[in-house]
Amino acid sequence: MPAEIIDGKAFAETVRARVAGHVTQLRAEQGLTPGLAVVLVGEDPASQVYVRNKGIQTKESGMASFEHRLPAETPEAALLGLIGELNSDPAVHGILVQLPLPAHLNADLVINAIAPEKDVDGFHILNVGRLNTGQKSMVPCTPLGCLMLLRDRLGDLSGLNAVVLGRSNIVGKPMASLLLRDSCTVTVAHSRTRDLPDVCRNADILVAAVGRPRMVPGDWIKPGATVIDVGINRVPAPEKGEGKTRLVGDVDFDSAVEVAGAITPVPGGVGPMTIACLLANTLTACCRANG
Ligand code: GUN
Repeated sequence: MPAEIIDGKAFAETVRARVAGHVTQLRAEQGLTPGLAVVLVGEDPASQVYVRNKGIQTKESGMASFEHRLPAETPEAALLGLIGELNSDPAVHGILVQLPLPAHLNADLVINAIAPEKDVDGFHILNVGRLNTGQKSMVPCTPLGCLMLLRDRLGDLSGLNAVVLGRSNIVGKPMASLLLRDSCTVTVAHSRTRDLPDVCRNADILVAAVGRPRMVPGDWIKPGATVIDVGINRVPAPEKGEGKTRLVGDVDFDSAVEVAGAITPVPGGVGPMTIACLLANTLTACCRANG
């Protein structure tokens, strides 16, 4: 029997509706409007699309959206100056600096300049440390979205074997932390992992976040497993016409869907959850800032 398709788009809509309801209530009862500032440095085309979508959905949820688009050659001091201003602006509850940054900018320094309580990406070193030690923190949006989908499908994750493919600071590492916090037995696999197919075949939960199109075939998947595909890869699609492209995940969907118990599609799986969680984190930051 083919896998259940996990509808991240529909789930994200319910999260966004819930956030919008809280925003309406905050405004009516406390006169507060949560605000999210997004900073984009340079002209990376994918980043421009993400930032535009973040702005649109922020406004749709009733929050204030502040967009700062800076030229690629912006000096580090100028970017740090802007972050300092946003840190002390009471209308701004969340700050997100879109990654990747141009090579002359030190991403760690920039991220760690954001006030931790406004770090809605959860990338600040204090939030990373808090997450890893079980303290209240901002949780990175993509792994948080994956966790919500997993809990929704599986309920209690305790004792399940979870394999996270990829060890990035944005997805792989925080995903592993969250699954460990939910009492999974967690393996983080990466490009140097030996016997990768066998490691994957042991997974009740497989989260693929490596950025390699269709890298995971169906025969790496344990029958009945829940597969979360974080990859968003653009590949040529000659079947759609000359020069056309389409998006595929890190998992080979067509073979995986025959084996898995449930799987997220690309697009329409994890992607929409990321922005929904960003809005939820901004709301959380606003509530915490105002007691
Ligand atoms: N670039 C790709 N994903 C992300 C993300 O979740 N946050 C930020 N700031 N940049 C990204």
